[in-house]
Amino acid sequence: MDMRRPRHRTGMILTCAVMFLPAMGAADMTVARQTELLHLLKQDCGSCHGMTLQGGLGPALTPQALNGKLDVMLRDTILNGRPGTPMPPWRPFMGTQEADWLVQVLQRGLTDAQ
Ligand code: HEC
Repeated sequence: MDMRRPRHRTGMILTCAVMFLPAMGAADMTVARQTELLHLLKQDCGSCHGMTLQGGLGPALTPQALNGKLDVMLRDTILNGRPGTPMPPWRPFMGTQEADWLVQVLQRGLTDAQ
């Protein structure tokens, strides 16, 4: 029973920490890196998926188009590409957490401000 108390306290501290983290719980990601990734999304991804991600050589990456698709599948596609299709792997350019963040951005939809 006593063993549980410290763990509970740690949980409280973590909960507080999470509340003060910057946007989208991207703990280790700086705003500068987020800006870089958004630039990549618009320039590089946009070259195939369309400037506004409505589709081009690659399919649309809008919230509507991605609706119902699993986060892990989308992340996997970004990191590893789709062999046999023009979709290249982006693993050399970003980490797993960063790919997850991009998936969240796509699912919410890019705003003009971004
Ligand atoms: C050279 C062209 C090209 C570039 C650049 C590219 N993609 Fe793709 N992407 C594709 C194609 C083609 C597909 C469809 C693959 C298939 O047929 O399954 C695809 C599929 C995807 C999918 C899966 C969509 C779905 O509906 O399942 C995601 C997510 C995705 N791309 C994200 C990205 C992101 C993020 C970037 C930039 C970091 C990017 N792509 C850059 C061509 C590209």
